Amino acid sequence: STTPVKVAVTGAAGQIGYSLLFRIACGDLLGPDTPVQLQLLEIEPALKALEGTVMELNDCAFPTLAGVEIGSDPNKIFDGANLALLVGARPRTKGMERGDLLSANGAIFTGQGKALNDHAADDIRVGVTGNPANTNALIASTNAPDIPKERFSALTRLDHNRAISQLSEKLGVPVTEIKKMTIWGNHSATQFPDLFHAEVDGKNAYDAVGDQDWYADTFIPTVAKRGAAIIEARGASSAASAASATIDAARDWLLGSAADDWVSMAVVSDGSYGVAEGIISSFPVVTKNGDWEIVQGLEINDFSRGKIDASVAELVEERDAVKELGLI
Ligand code: NAI
Repeated sequence: STTPVKVAVTGAAGQIGYSLLFRIACGDLLGPDTPVQLQLLEIEPALKALEGTVMELNDCAFPTLAGVEIGSDPNKIFDGANLALLVGARPRTKGMERGDLLSANGAIFTGQGKALNDHAADDIRVGVTGNPANTNALIASTNAPDIPKERFSALTRLDHNRAISQLSEKLGVPVTEIKKMTIWGNHSATQFPDLFHAEVDGKNAYDAVGDQDWYADTFIPTVAKRGAAIIEARGASSAASAASATIDAARDWLLGSAADDWVSMAVVSDGSYGVAEGIISSFPVVTKNGDWEIVQGLEINDFSRGKIDASVAELVEERDAVKELGLI
């Protein structure tokens, strides 16, 4: 069809936005035959910079870019949106306590949840990249009672991609041979990258590595702390890779995951694998036509159980904290 898909992006003038917008506009998200209309949200002081980015978007003359609208009112920018990518968030600044961070972001995600509830299209899907992503997604979803909870997800695809990359390097195999990677839990240092169900060239990845110490003491912390390592090296947080993962996650959600594979996505828990019901936690999922299903029947060993439980406990704590703040 030639009707453009309306993609709303928040934090559009930020680092991730500067990479993400061009990838969406050139067709990396929905393919070369689907025109997209970008609807970009920023806070007032960043609108001038965003105007500059829009000039550049126009200067690319992308055949798939049908139009761009910018503004600071979520009620206008989310109007008719089919997909909303919530990237903008308040970063943690010096001296900020965790509670301060949660309430600063709470204010953003309660308002955006309400605006999505009232103005987005009926088929809206919402992907949250801005941190703390899982809990921000929970706040937005809770404040959008008319939108099914299954339409909200938080980004753990970057962690998933990082895990594939680390394993590929360790085993000297191309990333295309690695399937069924899973990130469980929170997009935080407690996340659990699971090799027990991953496959390398059709064989079990944990066995292919054959080194529990490397798995526990090198692989898991390298994946979980990759964001900090990039800040240390680059002097700025990961942006192009976060944008790329945001595209991967949304594309697979809308267009479907590969037949012999699955992806990691933080979605509302139905209690599968003993994960507290109602929190937004990362699972192995298969996706099709904008729907997802948690992969069932995986065996969870004691090592995995401990890791999943620890990350879920952190998410439950975050949920309780935002409940206490009256945000959900
Ligand atoms: P940034 O600070 O460069 O950009 C954030 C932008 O959001 C700023 O332009 C700011 O003006 C805007 N913003 C703030 N409040 C807003 C509001 N109420 N409405 C609309 N826009 C608003 O940050 P960057 O590097 O682009 O990262 C964005 C977020 O993504 C951060 O929270 C970061 O922690 C998170 N992130 C998440 C990852 C993940 O894997 N889930 C990976 C990397 C970053």
